[in-house]
Amino acid sequence: MKQYTARQIPTNVCSRLILVVMIGLVSISAWARDFRLGLITPPPHTWTQAANRLAAELEEQSGGKHRLLVYPSRQLGNEAQMLRLMQTGALDMAILTAAEVSNRVPEFGALYTPYLAQDIEQAATILRGGVAAGLLGLLPNEIGVIGLGYGMAGMRQILSNVPVSSLADIQGKKLRITPFAPIRDFYTLAGAAPTPMPLSSVYDAMANGQIDMIDMDLELILKLRYYELSDTLVLSNHMMFPCIALFSGRVWIRLSEEDRQLISVLTRKHMEWIMAGAISGEAGWLAEARKLDIRLLEIDADFFEDAGERWEAIWESRSGTVSRLKTELARNQPESHE
Ligand code: BEZ
Repeated sequence: MKQYTARQIPTNVCSRLILVVMIGLVSISAWARDFRLGLITPPPHTWTQAANRLAAELEEQSGGKHRLLVYPSRQLGNEAQMLRLMQTGALDMAILTAAEVSNRVPEFGALYTPYLAQDIEQAATILRGGVAAGLLGLLPNEIGVIGLGYGMAGMRQILSNVPVSSLADIQGKKLRITPFAPIRDFYTLAGAAPTPMPLSSVYDAMANGQIDMIDMDLELILKLRYYELSDTLVLSNHMMFPCIALFSGRVWIRLSEEDRQLISVLTRKHMEWIMAGAISGEAGWLAEARKLDIRLLEIDADFFEDAGERWEAIWESRSGTVSRLKTELARNQPESHE
């Protein structure tokens, strides 16, 4: 067999090689695939339900070519680990809190501006807006993942093992937070002792007195029965809590345009289902919470004194996005929320 150096390869051999490589690439992208999606939420949670619905529809719409295997409850690791797996291409997809993403891309911190959204509908308006979409556009370059759309959990509340009637009752208290900087800064500025802790450790930490209170949404307060251990539910609605559907950039570039389109459209649809569920669920969860046998305290931004303003000063310079979100929200909802 004739041996060639690279420079001597005749053009017909060259074009045949290119053809073989191209056919190979096309067939890789056209392969039937099992994708894996990870999340930290337990099976009954809305985010996990949406992932299961997405999996069923992807299999159906791809004519059985693709399957999406869903791994809830941190089976594939915590959010930081899942993000790293997606960066290497070892994990295809995840629905992660925007909190985790904000640890890597500080612009996302602006979504946690205290009392930016006055209620769950405004939270959805913000997440459906152009500024939030622009944040997703940062992800491929910044951290090597594709942002396919937002969903959200309910507004954040405070559930306390000890009675709360004023800010002084929170100050100095160990208050569980999701591990991310914007919420840590808010409670630090309010004088509490924020204690970062993953969702999976919260119940035991409350039960054994490791923490005094938690930052949480109503759906989880009810579904995971945290209220059983509590004295006071502070209905504060102080922040929204978005999640983001992410796809590994390394896997994405190997997919056909058709597959990308299918995955994008279906993912957006089911993230929107999460969003609609959070909006329609909030009133029901609130009604259920009002029936609990614990004290209720309803508060607004004034409760936290100047913590919100000081937070904004820090995070406007860190994220450059707080004022853009406010301007857009004012433009989109001038009458209903002055
Ligand atoms: C939390 O850390 O509080 C949380 C995480 C995922 C979904 C909802 C809440």
